[in-house]
Amino acid sequence: MDVHNVDMVMSAVSAAQYPTDGKPEIALVGRSNVGKSSLTNTLIQRKNFARTSSQPGKTQTLNFYNVEDKLYFVDVPGYGYAKVSKKQREEFGHMIEEYITSRKQLRGVVSLVDARHEPSDDDVSMYEWLHYYNIPILIVATKSDKISKSKFNKYASNIKQTLGFDEDESDFQFFSSETKYGKDQVWKWIEAHI
Ligand code: GTP
Ligand code: MG
Repeated sequence: MDVHNVDMVMSAVSAAQYPTDGKPEIALVGRSNVGKSSLTNTLIQRKNFARTSSQPGKTQTLNFYNVEDKLYFVDVPGYGYAKVSKKQREEFGHMIEEYITSRKQLRGVVSLVDARHEPSDDDVSMYEWLHYYNIPILIVATKSDKISKSKFNKYASNIKQTLGFDEDESDFQFFSSETKYGKDQVWKWIEAHI
């Protein structure tokens, strides 16, 4: 999709604050600092529209981005950030769970993992949980500019094995917001699901 118009419509912490116009939604989940906001910026062709940071824990609310009046991207706070207090972590968990399990407009989830590392326990739990709720999942292995393309197959099988990836039910794509690698494929997946 060629994106010209995007605005951040809403920062929500609970269901009462979600947009009410019924557009399809695609959510982005993943560990803190994995690159969710950067992926959003790449897809919408903006540099720092979704605020990114080398400090984990930047995104703290559900942020709804209206893209071309066709869909919302929902940038979700990252999980697994140790410095966030236990109480805050519980609040984030509740906020994400409420959104994922109750949102009729949710068409799919782009779940980001770091291409370089074995998925964390939290990544595995997130994958299993989304899978349990029958939500279409695209696993995006990001920061792939940090590994050589000749090793993509090896890295992909490691990631899939750790996640318990279901080839029939989920999809997988390498991505980089530095080089834009995989951008068209991610868009294609999103367009096929909205
Ligand atoms: P939270 O909002 O804290 O959950 O983080 P986030 O997942 O939104 O991560 P964000 O997009 O803010 O990126 C975190 C850091 O990783 C920033 O310093 C980015 O520049 C860097 N980064 C993100 N994507 C890539 C990528 O594809 N390649 C490389 N090399 N760096 C990346
Ligand atoms: Mg973010």
